[in-house]
Amino acid sequence: AILVSRRVKSRRKWNRVVGVLRELEEECSTPVGRLRQVVDAMAVEMHAGLASEGGSKLKMLLTFIDNLPSGSEKGTYYALHLDSTDFKVLRVQLGGKRSTISEPNVEQQPIPQHLMTSTSEDLFDFVASSLKQFVEREGNDSELQLVKRRDLGFTFSFPVKQMSASSGILIKWTKGFAIKDMVGKDVVGCLQQAMTKRGLDMRVAALVNDTVGTLALEHYHDEDTVAAVIIGTGTNACYVERADAIIKSQGLLKSSGAMVVNIEWGNFWSSHLPRTSYDIDLDADSPNPNDQARGFEKMISGMYLGDIVRRGAAYCALMLISVVTTSGKQILFIRYAIGSGMDETSVMADMHEDDSPDLREVAKILEDTLEISDIPLKVRKLIVKVCDVVTRRAARLAAAGIVGILKKIGRDGSSGITSGRAKTGDESSSKMRTVVAIEGGLYIRYSNFREYLNEAVAEILGAEMAPHVILRVSEDGSGIGAAILAASHS
Ligand code: GLC
Repeated sequence: AILVSRRVKSRRKWNRVVGVLRELEEECSTPVGRLRQVVDAMAVEMHAGLASEGGSKLKMLLTFIDNLPSGSEKGTYYALHLDSTDFKVLRVQLGGKRSTISEPNVEQQPIPQHLMTSTSEDLFDFVASSLKQFVEREGNDSELQLVKRRDLGFTFSFPVKQMSASSGILIKWTKGFAIKDMVGKDVVGCLQQAMTKRGLDMRVAALVNDTVGTLALEHYHDEDTVAAVIIGTGTNACYVERADAIIKSQGLLKSSGAMVVNIEWGNFWSSHLPRTSYDIDLDADSPNPNDQARGFEKMISGMYLGDIVRRGAAYCALMLISVVTTSGKQILFIRYAIGSGMDETSVMADMHEDDSPDLREVAKILEDTLEISDIPLKVRKLIVKVCDVVTRRAARLAAAGIVGILKKIGRDGSSGITSGRAKTGDESSSKMRTVVAIEGGLYIRYSNFREYLNEAVAEILGAEMAPHVILRVSEDGSGIGAAILAASHS
């Protein structure tokens, strides 16, 4: 029951809109010089976050994963993956010798909305009962009955201060979760308690961030993998750091070794980030408003991207058409009208990637989601342009983040920050083959995003260095990787 009245106003108005769009494009522009400043800022902040606790907005969390899977892991292992929208349980069979992981048995289900703001007991009760059902469905499978002890890798896609590779406390929620009593609690303790209550005999052998799971899986396949990035509902990265560069923990770690560090780059902030009035408004309306709180995540990830587009498009539309519901609300002004959150970002991707001459898909989506029909072609084009500008900026900033990590560890071909360099610290170490794994719906399913990111990484690195850096798509890495880590830590 929505009444749509629409009036494309005069040419003068149209010209103003074109001006606004140009301004948005200008403000969001990320020439390679600016990206290099972001690269430097990322490397400097990483350095500061390793030097002292609280030394940077980047938490640089220790994971206590000091050796990544080698490929020799054998046996049956389990994982569960808790993210902002989904919950997955899986089982993998590892055969040693970097065996291919054939058809892991995966079950996925959405997390009921009410559990995201309920109590930790309710959440983990749900998790443990799903896990129990999964195990019970194994039934009489004789091979599985031979599994002596069920070891589990737990991928928990939120910031955790780890005490060991298999325990850690939740620092804070991100991505829309808000279970207050859980903050400060041992995540594994909560899970273990719920499993005991349900009579489920399983042991949590590894607690990992999703970035770390992804790194583990890709390292299992290819040992040149040194970092992993997630670009989905949230965004984050982890990488392998030399223990002696983790100054804040000296004495705690063996100085000769290495450790995976969870950067929590969603929190990255730099004055070099191209910020617009739409970002400022989005921040002010967010549950965690503050200039810098999760600044990088708010410009890049699926949770926010659609909303930046909506704000840009709404501003333009305001000048062009009046779209009014029966209740008198301006539809485009309703928060999150254009999808946000990972699945809904696909709406944005579909509009952006509509290659029909009359942008039929854009028209259909606007009609289906916003109930606006007969949107003139030039307005459809305008919305596609806003998607392009916002996506391009996001992808290029993520690319700068990736090169920032490479710079920190001396794999970007420059002679930047030396303390994080590979041992030899010269040209040759910098030109080593380097693999970065990338997971997350935004990167995997949004091809314009992926192309912009890949292109920007190559642009920043330059023609000589770019061929040495491989960006590898990882699907389901966060979960499978946790199962492999359970194997190597059992
Ligand atoms: C958020 C979480 C982080 C996670 C990322 C990707 O940024 O804080 O821990 O890795 O989302 O899921």
